[in-house]
Amino acid sequence: MTNKLKYFIGNWKMFGDNSSLKVIKQIYKFRTDFKTGKNKIVICVPNTLISFFEKKIKSKFFYIGAQNCHQNPGYGAFTGSVSASMLKKVGAKYVILGHSENRKSGDTNKIIQEKIKSALDAKINVIFCFGETLNEKRSKKTFSVIRNQILGSVKKNYTIKNIFFAYEPVWSIGTGKTPNVDELKKTFNYIKNEIKKNFKTRSLPIVLYGGSVNHNNISMFSSISEIDGFLIGGASQSAKKFIDIIKNYYK
Ligand code: PGA
Repeated sequence: MTNKLKYFIGNWKMFGDNSSLKVIKQIYKFRTDFKTGKNKIVICVPNTLISFFEKKIKSKFFYIGAQNCHQNPGYGAFTGSVSASMLKKVGAKYVILGHSENRKSGDTNKIIQEKIKSALDAKINVIFCFGETLNEKRSKKTFSVIRNQILGSVKKNYTIKNIFFAYEPVWSIGTGKTPNVDELKKTFNYIKNEIKKNFKTRSLPIVLYGGSVNHNNISMFSSISEIDGFLIGGASQSAKKFIDIIKNYYK
């Protein structure tokens, strides 16, 4: 069984200012007119832009998200940080957590586990990232790394239907390199089985792919029905590139 509904999620990273509203508007207009396939779009932008963008968009298929939050719920003495409930109040419907760029600057499985809890408690959907490094891939540890990251950060009692599992091989992010079809099929089946085995959920798990997705390689990904959507970094900063990915997915 696979999910028919597909997700195209943008991760803008540290990019954008008020003038970037034009990118949001172009993607939104495209999606409004685009009747092919069942899909939703989420663009995860810097915190400085969430409220501004969110007010311009009212849609059941287009949402604005955030890219990280502090693990502490509510308010606290954490200079420079923002909690999930604060993100929720400005209109974020999703938050990316566990991104490898944040793991590099100190996010551990335990911290990510707390962040996921605070986001779910604030009623924000979580885009939970995990994936192996090149060295781990070379030493054939991909599955054990994935398992360890998932089980280390997602507790049995978390609401799985609000967690989007985003497989992002670290060696693929921003490099132009991607796993091949065979590797992807095996890894997605492994991830979905692990989720089914370890968590109680009636809905099918949503598992996304992220890492160097672009308008050329998307046709390779679209042949793999196990992939429920994409987390798109660099290419989501351009309306044309992002739109071409969606168009080519359905070609
Ligand atoms: P990329 O980034 O598409 O630029 O490789 C993906 C991500 O970091 O989520």
